[in-house]
Amino acid sequence: MERVKLAIDGGAKAKQTPYGREQRYGAEELEQLREALEQGTLFYAQGEKVRQLEAEFAEKSGVPYAVCCTSGTAAIHSALMAVGISPGEEVITSPITDMGTLSPILYQGAIPIFADLHPHTYTLIPESVEACITPRTKAVIAVNLAGNACDLDALREICNRHNLYLIEDCAQTFGCRYKGRPIGTTGDIGCFSFNEYKHISCGDGGITVTRDAALAERLRLSTDKAYSRRADAPERRPTFLANNYRMTELQGAVALAQFRKLDSIVSRRQAWCGELSRRLEGVRGITLPEIAEGVEPSWWFYMMRVDESQMGVSADAVAKALQAEGLPIGAHYIGKCVYEHPLFTNKSAFARAPHACDSYDYRAGMCPNAEAILNTCITLSVNEAYTQSDLNETVEGIRKVGEGLGR
Ligand SMILES: Cc1ncc(COP(=O)(O)O)c(C=O)c1O
Repeated sequence: MERVKLAIDGGAKAKQTPYGREQRYGAEELEQLREALEQGTLFYAQGEKVRQLEAEFAEKSGVPYAVCCTSGTAAIHSALMAVGISPGEEVITSPITDMGTLSPILYQGAIPIFADLHPHTYTLIPESVEACITPRTKAVIAVNLAGNACDLDALREICNRHNLYLIEDCAQTFGCRYKGRPIGTTGDIGCFSFNEYKHISCGDGGITVTRDAALAERLRLSTDKAYSRRADAPERRPTFLANNYRMTELQGAVALAQFRKLDSIVSRRQAWCGELSRRLEGVRGITLPEIAEGVEPSWWFYMMRVDESQMGVSADAVAKALQAEGLPIGAHYIGKCVYEHPLFTNKSAFARAPHACDSYDYRAGMCPNAEAILNTCITLSVNEAYTQSDLNETVEGIRKVGEGLGR
């Protein structure tokens, strides 16, 4: 059979037209903003938008409590403050994540410990998490990556057995479901991000969910300098250290309008990526993301791995060939595992004082699966506005490169 000429070798591109896009903010957001401004206050404790968003988000998550804050990082930080993570304690998490998972651990004076990942779901291996537990461990932050869920039941069971908090980092997983349950509700606290690049956004913002009334109370205090705004609170006398992570009514208004669009955004991503997976099955040299039974991912991006032994070339070369075909694909996602960031390897979290994590030896080789994932992965950007012809051309481009490269 004659090989089709790759675009990188001067052939025709697989993707001839721009990918579908739509204006993400519109009339609904403007209307909510107008209402917020007409309230005459932008303070969450006096207005209705943040409270409304919390009520709708909690209801949809099937839990009694949701608490808004300023970012996904603030959501994770308020979760750690709420459960009382203290200096010198250890928090186990994923080596492939954003600094927003880690800086809250460090600001609590605590030590991030990294467990290894499943090679194809890219989420924590429960046995690896359990092997990291010491008498100092107090919590696990399960990073639900790229719209996909961790093995949450197994992590929950380990946390229960060792008396640890389970916090879910759901910054990349709005709308995902795990064994029928909304993401973020298997852990003690689920943390979400409304930053500009997430499924839904208000520029920057965050929200946490919990079933536990006492944790909900502490989550609220953790976002508001530990000042109580309850009418029956006697006076403002903080009982623990907390920041100002308050969401304003402006963010709340936009996030509320966006949240009401979430179902449509997620179902379109699921349909597109579901068909992509079916049609890419068996493509030479590319390993598709694995979805565990019972997980309904919400596809924040689509991460594949290059089988270099079959392809005969690196992930960089494959990504370059796919880019030449017109596909929005990059290699290596975040580049290196987070424990290779200079703040860990140089022991330089603080400028002039040691941090508890400096006593821990962070180095390449700690999590071999995670390092192999980053060395060989290619990620396709996904958007709910992608069309059927985007899908056809994407499949054609990946198939063409899979079959045409490295022979
Ligand atoms: C997995 C993960 N955790 C946490 C965050 C932090 O969220 P934010 O940027 O809203 O602080 C991000 C953001 O990229 C993320 O992807």
